[in-house]
Amino acid sequence: MHTIQDSEILQQSLEHSFWTWSAQGKVSPIPVTKAKGVYFWDADGKRYLDLNSQMMCVNIGHGDERVIEAIAAQARELPYVAPSLTTKPRAVLGKMLAEITPGDLNHFFFTLGGAEANENAIKIARAYTGKHKILARYRSYHGATAGAMSLTGDPRRLAWEPTLMSGVVHFLDPYRYRSTFHKDKPEISEAEFTNDYLNHLEEIISYEGADTIAAIIIETVTGTNGIIIPPEGYLQGLREICDKNNILLICDEVMSGFGRTGEWFAVDHWNVVPDIITMAKGLTSAYAPLGAVAMRDEIAEYFDDKVFYGGLTYNSHPISLAAAIANINVMKEDGVIENARKMGTVLRRHLNDLGEKHKSVGEVRSIGLFSAIEVVRNRETREPMAPYNGISPEMTRVKEYLLENGVYTFIHWNVILVIPPLIINEEQLEEGIRVIDQALEITDAAVTG
Ligand SMILES: Cc1ncc(COP(=O)(O)O)c(C=O)c1O
Repeated sequence: MHTIQDSEILQQSLEHSFWTWSAQGKVSPIPVTKAKGVYFWDADGKRYLDLNSQMMCVNIGHGDERVIEAIAAQARELPYVAPSLTTKPRAVLGKMLAEITPGDLNHFFFTLGGAEANENAIKIARAYTGKHKILARYRSYHGATAGAMSLTGDPRRLAWEPTLMSGVVHFLDPYRYRSTFHKDKPEISEAEFTNDYLNHLEEIISYEGADTIAAIIIETVTGTNGIIIPPEGYLQGLREICDKNNILLICDEVMSGFGRTGEWFAVDHWNVVPDIITMAKGLTSAYAPLGAVAMRDEIAEYFDDKVFYGGLTYNSHPISLAAAIANINVMKEDGVIENARKMGTVLRRHLNDLGEKHKSVGEVRSIGLFSAIEVVRNRETREPMAPYNGISPEMTRVKEYLLENGVYTFIHWNVILVIPPLIINEEQLEEGIRVIDQALEITDAAVTG
């Protein structure tokens, strides 16, 4: 039996583990030994405030005994059966999800994570419509498997081209701060802004041919690529365009679901019912791996007499399903979504203050506890503090400063993401914002003009 001291975790991990998204010789992971609530601790006992919910997924916070106990109980009772059999957690979770998903999204295909959910959503959409192409947006991330990577619009896709899944066409995101169509028209109304982006999409549909397009997939609120919140009317417009052209609307809520935005799902803010919602992360708050494809009645019924050609050994894994049930119960019992809404207002106030105080803050964006601080060299030109798909000494220093001062979050190029567990309170939020406030002095010093 290999047992090691906490002090050996880092070195031994570096010797034997292969790391995601990294040059292997350059990683320096924090060896984590415990986590509770909104905090985690490293092997030296240093405490970090988790402002990224780890990978934007520990929605109910760390170490909730109710979820841990549910996992242990399920492991004792029945840890696994083949996907063609069924279990109590499978019966219960489907019903619970049908109650919280919008409209008639009443049928769920379970996977192990977000990428697999998107892969299967595409299969379902293609089989159901008999069409092939998928439209997706440039500022998006949909997962690292081949199909999900082809949907992904951001530069993570580029390393794997040209061998990805065929038939994906990308279009532009309604990203107001860096709008391609409105560089010289910052005062344009929200309605006109929305309209221009819907027209852009319709033009692409006409060139590609509606008869060839199975689905449009979007992150309802874009996550890693900078918390891009759809303008008023955009989602409703998308729904109409899809209906008109017999195209399915798939909303990827892997990151934005499960209370992150202050509603169960981000689409609930606009009362739009997509044909398919994909989910993962907050579905179990990452206590166990799980993703799901939610589909409307009509889509599920199509497969009543047609085979769905897809499967996974760990489909509907009882331990993961038990974690999801307990996680949703915690969210309901503790009013976690109400807290996200309430603390979202507090966070917004803090972000606005940071925006007023720091000349390197170009824009702050937030919805619930899903937020971003976009850092610029020059407010006038909006030159980002780090280039698109790049880093800069200033942003690297901000990240180091935050970690040195016990705040863990995600920095994406020139954007600081603030995505804490939804159970965070005012004091803890202030603790994090204070350190970010100090860190922004670093980028303020680099402002030009
Ligand atoms: C919006 C979105 N979709 C899909 C994924 C992929 O999920 P997973 O890493 O569980 O495969 C992610 C992961 O960050 C995501 O943010």
